[in-house]
Amino acid sequence: MTSFMVPAADDAVQPRQSLPISFTLDGEHVTALEGQTIAGALLATGRTSWRSTTAGEPRGVFCGIGVCFDCIVTVGETRDVRACMRRVHDGDEVRTQADGAPEVTL
Ligand code: FES
Repeated sequence: MTSFMVPAADDAVQPRQSLPISFTLDGEHVTALEGQTIAGALLATGRTSWRSTTAGEPRGVFCGIGVCFDCIVTVGETRDVRACMRRVHDGDEVRTQADGAPEVTL
């Protein structure tokens, strides 16, 4: 495990007293701390990818600042949500996307 994938409970910084929350990823229960991004919460569980390209290549966080769209997920009914930019909320239903490029209009 690298230093950027520290489970929230083991994070020595403990930036504030964050409340534990939970959400689902493809129906699987995932715990996180209030204030984490979806990507941060997924990285803390040890996941490094949660999307695949049309060629089947795994994708997760690349830029981490909302530029590359490699980290997109579906949250509720909203597709192409950048996991690195959206804070996870208690009860969110997050689904991975395995159907290629995002449907983004720039
Ligand atoms: S990792 Fe690049 S947009 Fe999220």
